[in-house]
Amino acid sequence: MSKPIPTNQERVMNVDDFIVSKTDLKGHITYCNEIFMEMAAMTEEELLGKPHNIVRHPEMPKAVFKLLWNYVQNGREIFAYVKNLSADGSFYWVYANVTPSYDHNHNIIGYYSIRIKPNPAALEIIKPLYAKMLEIEKSEGVDASVNYLANVLKEKGVSSYDEFIINIQG
Ligand SMILES: Cc1cc2nc3c(=O)[nH]c(=O)nc-3n(C[C@H](O)[C@H](O)[C@H](O)COP(=O)(O)O)c2cc1C
Repeated sequence: MSKPIPTNQERVMNVDDFIVSKTDLKGHITYCNEIFMEMAAMTEEELLGKPHNIVRHPEMPKAVFKLLWNYVQNGREIFAYVKNLSADGSFYWVYANVTPSYDHNHNIIGYYSIRIKPNPAALEIIKPLYAKMLEIEKSEGVDASVNYLANVLKEKGVSSYDEFIINIQG
């Protein structure tokens, strides 16, 4: 399936909805709930077994996903704001929690994500931040964007992206 051309059409999550998905260790989708399919405008058949970047929006900075994978591969959960792309080109913002899943021997066997509607006030902080990070990635690369984010967090007096995100979601 070729990537849709992004439009300015937004889909907004309902306050009582949860978008859920699970992946294997490589980030291939092994489960998604009804609301996931509805928001992504894709069928279960189109989603299962596919890399999770199937809903990746080109306006998302790479640095956010770099952090996400760093956290979960090291056994930590992460909270993040993510702009996702639907099959019809529309987009939807989510407040995501991504966690590793373990077997009885404490080996990571996959990943799990639950997403809820983001706080609209938090998105007004996130949108310009991500736009700036994207611009830096295009001119200087992803490491420069990671450094920029680290400096922004330092100026705000928070120790991690995660803490910052949890604070602004409220
Ligand atoms: C459990 C889980 C959920 C994820 N959910 C999303 C998501 O909703 N949207 C997204 O763009 N990437 C999501 N990712 C990250 C993707 O695997 C991928 O790293 C990201 O889309 C960047 O793709 P790229 O490396 O091709 O640029 C998720 C990863 C995991 C492990």
